[in-house]
Amino acid sequence: MSRIFINYRRVDSEGHVGRLMDHLAQHFQPDDIFMDIESIKPGEDFIDTIEKAVAACDVFLIMIGPHWLTAADEAGRRRLDLWDDFVRVEITAALKLNKKIFPVLVGRAAMPHPDHLPEELRPLTRRQATELTHTRFAQDAQKLIVAIREAMPSQTKRKPRTDAETYLQKEAALKALRAQLIDASESPLFEFRQKMRYFPVIGEGNPDANIVLIGESPGKNEAEKGVPFVGPSGEVLDEMLATINLKRQDIFVTNLLLDRPPEKRDPLPEELAFYAPYVDRIIEIIQPGVIVALGRFAMSYLLKKYNLPEQGGKISDLHGRPLRATAPYGAIHLLPLYHPAVVLYSATQRETLKRDFQKLTLFI
Ligand code: URA
Repeated sequence: MSRIFINYRRVDSEGHVGRLMDHLAQHFQPDDIFMDIESIKPGEDFIDTIEKAVAACDVFLIMIGPHWLTAADEAGRRRLDLWDDFVRVEITAALKLNKKIFPVLVGRAAMPHPDHLPEELRPLTRRQATELTHTRFAQDAQKLIVAIREAMPSQTKRKPRTDAETYLQKEAALKALRAQLIDASESPLFEFRQKMRYFPVIGEGNPDANIVLIGESPGKNEAEKGVPFVGPSGEVLDEMLATINLKRQDIFVTNLLLDRPPEKRDPLPEELAFYAPYVDRIIEIIQPGVIVALGRFAMSYLLKKYNLPEQGGKISDLHGRPLRATAPYGAIHLLPLYHPAVVLYSATQRETLKRDFQKLTLFI
């Protein structure tokens, strides 16, 4: 059943609803959203259908535009005063059922005064409203989506913390994987690692994290310490995490290649192929609800792994867009982001990266 109910009046806020839907569609399934008339089949008792839909929703949005209060029918009667007005019937049901109601102000509308409302709608004015402004629509919509997520029982938002025993099992499984990697002499990067006295870099962080970040390959700093993202890219990563109040120990960070390749170059196909089962195993052990691809290589690995239709898409098109996927252990989200190194080459990308990292707040 639909989980977000959007109550709106076409003449008042149709354009704003369309714009909001574009944002909601990036985070929820079409079936999660119920938008009145379109979803009512011919012949059905509309009051019955509306009440059932309202009863089934987790969140009830009321879009209030500049004509919400005054919109009238052909006979000049104010719609809100009519007993069978859809907007009124829906809101009355939501109030009666004590739903989580979010008034959403659009087109510079203000929250109506209780004296201007039919008695049964007056309690609505005690609800805190959110505003979607024209100039900051994307940011305002983002805040609203965070609030909606918090109000909805979500599958992936907050993976319940496992018990201490499972945590220790996951930690031990990662250690065992590292031990296996240390001895992996068949790796195309094994000889180089031995010669340079480098460490493999399996990853760092919480073995039971809900969020796993996957970069490209360790650099010199990382291979010398055996820890991912400790050089200049790591500084950018930490800066981004700080903007959303996350620390390394809240997440797990790893790479597609778990050893440093010689020189600064793209991963070779045989290197990617060798380490892929290790990366798959890391995901299988941690079972995150969200996997973040840092850069195009991690993005194409994940799109292919989860068989998503976006395969072949460019990072410049897909960055910052959470995608739904199905892992063997349940529903997950993938979030492609630019690699943090992008900021080292182009400072103007810092704001883009910050904005994209904000998307992770949906899952914290
Ligand atoms: N770049 C990466 O992709 N990973 C690291 O660990 C460091 C830099």
